[in-house]
Amino acid sequence: MTTARRPFVHDGIAYGCDYNPEQWDPSVWAEDVALMTEAGVDLVAINVFGWSHIEPRQGEFDFTALDRVIDLLAAAGIGINLGTGTSSTPPWLTRLHPEILPMTEDGTLRYPGGRQAWCPSSPVFREAALALVDAVARRYGSHPAVELWHVSNELGCHNALCYCDTSAAAFRVWLEARYGTIDALNSAWGTAFWSQTYREWDEILPPRATLSTRNPGQQLDFHRFSSDTLLDYFRAEAEIIRAISDKPVTTNFMVTAHIENLDYWSWAADMDVIANDHYLDNRLSDPRTELSFAADLTRGLAGGEPWLLMEHSTGAVNWQPLNRAKAPGQMIRNSLTHVARGADAVCFFQWRASVQGSEKFHSAMLPHAGTDSALWREVVELGGIVDRIAEVAGSRVVSEVAIVFSWEAWWATQTESRPSHELGYLEQMHAAYAALYAQGVSVDVVAPGADLSGYRLVVAPGLHLVRAAEASVITDWIAAGGTAVVTFYSGIVDENDRVWTGGYTGPFRQALGVAVEEFAPVAAGEPLRLTSGATASLWSERFRATTAAVIDSFADGPSAGGPAITRNTWGEGAAWYVATLPSAADYRALFARVVAEAGVTATARMRAGSDVETVRRRGENADYLFVINHGGDVAVAEATGHDLVTDAAVSGEIEIPGGSVRIIREEALV
Ligand code: GAL
Repeated sequence: MTTARRPFVHDGIAYGCDYNPEQWDPSVWAEDVALMTEAGVDLVAINVFGWSHIEPRQGEFDFTALDRVIDLLAAAGIGINLGTGTSSTPPWLTRLHPEILPMTEDGTLRYPGGRQAWCPSSPVFREAALALVDAVARRYGSHPAVELWHVSNELGCHNALCYCDTSAAAFRVWLEARYGTIDALNSAWGTAFWSQTYREWDEILPPRATLSTRNPGQQLDFHRFSSDTLLDYFRAEAEIIRAISDKPVTTNFMVTAHIENLDYWSWAADMDVIANDHYLDNRLSDPRTELSFAADLTRGLAGGEPWLLMEHSTGAVNWQPLNRAKAPGQMIRNSLTHVARGADAVCFFQWRASVQGSEKFHSAMLPHAGTDSALWREVVELGGIVDRIAEVAGSRVVSEVAIVFSWEAWWATQTESRPSHELGYLEQMHAAYAALYAQGVSVDVVAPGADLSGYRLVVAPGLHLVRAAEASVITDWIAAGGTAVVTFYSGIVDENDRVWTGGYTGPFRQALGVAVEEFAPVAAGEPLRLTSGATASLWSERFRATTAAVIDSFADGPSAGGPAITRNTWGEGAAWYVATLPSAADYRALFARVVAEAGVTATARMRAGSDVETVRRRGENADYLFVINHGGDVAVAEATGHDLVTDAAVSGEIEIPGGSVRIIREEALV
């Protein structure tokens, strides 16, 4: 995007939800708006799934109901986050044009009846969708209640990877633009292997299901193509809106566990404001730390600026194998964790719990039980807190630590043939992040190649795919006095998935002072001990420390006797290498040492409390210290200022009861 970002203008922290009034009789709408006001809701996303309502037949628009909903919300002073309505196609479109349906890798179609049943490369879909966007933008583009445009919904949630013939043709066009010549493509994909050399562009297909493993270079480029295709689609919608309306435009990202298909680093600059949907994933061993990581990554996408939490849940979702209810107070803690980590909006999916459709058992702000419920009371309580912390809006999180995150490395790590199928990119990321999080320090999440000045510590977990220039940013920064930790399976392939030879860790090798010769992964449950007494799992490797000092060695396992953790002096700085996955406790101990060595300061001084999250946001006139006590016992933190949650002055050692949150304006410290 070349134009300047349009600011999202809102008074304080926004509090809101998706609202799907089309699921209800209009007689309910007035009550909805009255209750929204009671809860303090002031930003509502509508028309997200509106297509079949506002365009009942091709080219016939009917805005009567949407006009009424907008009037009701506007009259109550509620800001509108206006959906373009294109995320889910109406039945008339797929009946007229079944060629827009997406195809999975095994060549089977996916039918309408769910949502997102469209191929991202389909020109037919695009034309129909953009006609709708144009109509919506013309009707509401200058409506004073519209605060934000919500393009489509979670682009790529279901349809990111489409393997149909239309996608195949678009993939070839994308490849030709990337490589110019077929020889360059053959070289990038390593097609000399298994007789895959292409002679004509038309021979190339998306990586559809094969009998054996597929070409990893082809798969990697298909990921890039698919991400770019949806970004291009976003741009097409945004361009129409921006020509008609002067309000900011965004779409809701899915920075959350296991959603890997879009490289949001390449999307971020196109958003006027970054918005994210996050759902606690109770399939993970530590869902709460993942929430913090996702919020930090979202802030990274926003370049450190505030961002909007567009969706999360008040309680259970409906799409995990076991959909856990939130514990009392958990919704408030989860919401304020997002705010602590940079969110200037707390929104939920959705306002009123559906009584029909596949999401009828998904929690909402207004549950099936109605307002005489603990959940509703917590929704109202949270609305009050969000109001009282209005002044936090616009402030920025302070961090001295950066962790490097890469969607390309994620894609390249997860290819079909790898040293161990127990090795996952995100799992390595979460393990390193959890060990840092436990130190009570804030972490920024940055892209490979990002400017590192200002940080004291940089961590690169499993940065498998890395370009030489991106690695140099890290190694030069170390040489200039930084402390970095690089973990195993980093620096293995270049951007074409081609192995860096001459000893693994490739472009990091010299700075780390190691020469890795062979991977030696271990199976779950197999013992892996280090000579210090620490325990580890998943991975070992056979390597020599060339110039590095050996900090710990493998006591058993396939690399017994060899180094496991090393530290090298590189220029003015220090480069640590961790060639295994330490147990959670040992990883924490390692980071305690590294954090101290790097001179990173903890966010707050705590005297008690074992399960406390602390984050500081820095405003123009004050710092805001968030202390979130996830544990059951009283925590004690040192802070002086005014607690915005309880609206009380605090000074010295303050007590935070189990399960509660304090947000302290620390005027004295600035
Ligand atoms: C999101 C989506 C919402 C709703 C929600 C349920 O992926 O944007 O429309 O489906 O999940 O958790």
